[in-house]
Amino acid sequence: MDRTITPARRLAGVVRLPGDKSISHRYGILASLAEGPSRIVNFSSGADCHSTLGCLRALGVPLETKGTTVRIEGVGLDGLKPPAGPLDAGNSGSTIRMLSGVLAAQPFSTQIAGDASLSGRPMRRILDPLRRMGARIQAREDNLPPLDITGGRLSGIDYELPVPSAQVKSAVLLAGLWADGATVVREPVRTRDHTEIALREMGASIEVRPQTIRLQPRPRLQGRELAVPADLSSAAFFLVAALLIRDSEVAMEGVGLNPTRAALLDLLASMGAKPEIHDLREQAGELVGNLVMRHAALRGGQIAGAAAAALIDEIPVLAVLGAVSQGGLVVRDAAELRAKESDRIATVAANLGRLGVEVRVFPDGMEIPGRQRFRAAQLDSFGDHRIAMAFSVAALAADGPCNIHGAEAASISFPEFYDRLESLRT
Ligand code: S3P
Repeated sequence: MDRTITPARRLAGVVRLPGDKSISHRYGILASLAEGPSRIVNFSSGADCHSTLGCLRALGVPLETKGTTVRIEGVGLDGLKPPAGPLDAGNSGSTIRMLSGVLAAQPFSTQIAGDASLSGRPMRRILDPLRRMGARIQAREDNLPPLDITGGRLSGIDYELPVPSAQVKSAVLLAGLWADGATVVREPVRTRDHTEIALREMGASIEVRPQTIRLQPRPRLQGRELAVPADLSSAAFFLVAALLIRDSEVAMEGVGLNPTRAALLDLLASMGAKPEIHDLREQAGELVGNLVMRHAALRGGQIAGAAAAALIDEIPVLAVLGAVSQGGLVVRDAAELRAKESDRIATVAANLGRLGVEVRVFPDGMEIPGRQRFRAAQLDSFGDHRIAMAFSVAALAADGPCNIHGAEAASISFPEFYDRLESLRT
């Protein structure tokens, strides 16, 4: 589907955001493995989280969705059933990687596969630690989906993450629920800790020290009421839109501000933005607050080292912002961008090029000089939700209407994105 986005004069209002994608996956999986019922409100409307629910349903978990509320009747650690056919993870790396940890420990075999984009994404990062726990998994070229997983008994391991990845950490911790001893994950670079928080909230015995997580096996997880915070990575598109368009002011409520995710606000503040946070509170161990962002002229920014891992999902839209900032944006140590739903270094550079923006590409990042303007262009999502949304935001600041090819990709994490964007025009 093509979509035309016209330039915006001013944006103002309150944006309703979907539930956090990372947290929704985890609540869905853990509520399924818990004992008793759970009710999850504000579950992500994105297709990715519904891929996780579809897999759980196929594994015999009774679950019901009504709007963004999900009711799950937990089956306990020993209650999953062999699925009738292959599981479909769709476009979702979180689904295939996290569920592989679960499937590796089941007393049955499963195949899990995904769409063309997911079929090209690296899985060796989960195969290595899960095999060290005793898992039997076959993959195409020993790296790519589909994965054929012969479940069985697992042992606990002490594993240091070679790539900073919360999906890998979570796969190992989830497998560790069934291991015959404690599972230890060491992370030299801190990644999002939603799995650790949710496990603790649901009754697991998990100890979190700086850089080291230790999980005891076979907890009795308890079903409960859970509310998913609004998704900060989805908020990023509106924060940047407000900064780009003169006189704008955009507010968002109940946004997840977990410190392992909030590097975005620190970076924007370091560039001269003044994000306001109100009513900071805790919700099932997760920090949540209301956000307001107003237009501001920004200095340049730099993303490297641990910040590259912490901002990995936001870099496409930050690249757009960098081009119009006064000092530009430099991104390094972000080679992981090439292993996302698209090669995000290549797809960001391609779209910036079409907008007439100068950009220099490196194997692990890019450099975008500041003070540039966007000319009206034919843009492409390249089938990647975050590219579709980042360049829709760029289009608001272009000198004429832009056309986005494959705009529907946004529905992977934010099906309501275009409606919400249009509702802010004044
Ligand atoms: C996610 C972790 C990140 C992120 C992805 C969601 C998660 O991926 O890019 O969108 O929910 O754990 P990696 O673990 O591959 O870095």
